[in-house]
Amino acid sequence: MATATGIDEDGRADEGAGSWRELNRANWDERVAVHLASDFYRVEQFVAGEDSLHGFEDGELGPLQATSAVHLQCHVGLDTLSLARRGAEVTGLDFSRPALDAARRLADRTGVAASFVEADLYDAPAALGRRYDLVYTGKGALNWLPDMGRWAEVVAALLRPGGRLYLVEFHPFVSVFGDESLTLEYPYFDEGPVYLDDPGDYADPNARLSAARTVEFAHPLGEIVTSLVEAGLVLEFLHEFPECGFRRFPFLVESQPGLYAMPPGMMRLPMMFSLRARRPA
Ligand SMILES: C[S@@+](CC[C@H](N)C(=O)[O-])C[C@H]1O[C@@H](n2cnc3c(N)ncnc32)[C@H](O)[C@@H]1O
Repeated sequence: MATATGIDEDGRADEGAGSWRELNRANWDERVAVHLASDFYRVEQFVAGEDSLHGFEDGELGPLQATSAVHLQCHVGLDTLSLARRGAEVTGLDFSRPALDAARRLADRTGVAASFVEADLYDAPAALGRRYDLVYTGKGALNWLPDMGRWAEVVAALLRPGGRLYLVEFHPFVSVFGDESLTLEYPYFDEGPVYLDDPGDYADPNARLSAARTVEFAHPLGEIVTSLVEAGLVLEFLHEFPECGFRRFPFLVESQPGLYAMPPGMMRLPMMFSLRARRPA
């Protein structure tokens, strides 16, 4: 039975304004202009040649020359185009039309070839209609999805036999804390949808979004990994990092360009993880 926000017991209902999908899409549509103007996304620096991937990603991804890749939940396409700059033939997929419009403009401005497809994550196999050597995703992607089992099936369906998923994501452990301090505010385990009414935006502290209501979903690390295994993928590595790709807490210090760590004297916590998994040949 669907609830007032359009989410039924298994988180699948999605019809109508007020559903998790419609609320989140309106929020993400509105964030695009904020992000393009923000110092956080460094769009002008990217156009001038700056890279958007983290330093550790190259070693984990391996060479991308002549690799067919799909970037799921690609947002404004910075990481999509960074993969393309490494020689991959890339398609970015997102459900936000303004995000994809921005991504296409960035592709034009940088002269980097990439294609972009508008679709919900769960409709990706039908919308894309082909398989890839690499599925790339993460950095704030999974918390928007209600069902990890179906997500993993989508990933498996998009990979050719022998193809790989590379996921780099914020660690669910650190998602339990509030924005300002190590105070427990959110569930680690999936205890149902998490509703937020937050007009702010991580990329611009002065932003005031009108589509402020969002619905997020907690996915513990074990659930993410087990969903991939159950979808038939073979785990190649799972790495946990004591750094975060943005200043997750005000007291973090930049330890290397674009990565933030606990200050000296504070115990390290897992703030990001990456994993690579292979579809058997
Ligand atoms: C934090 S951004 C991801 C950032 C991206 N990984 C990057 O590096 O630029 C989350 C993205 O997920 C997209 N998204 C959220 N829910 C989605 C869904 N159900 N289907 C497709 N895209 C979705 C949003 O539009 C947004 O662009």
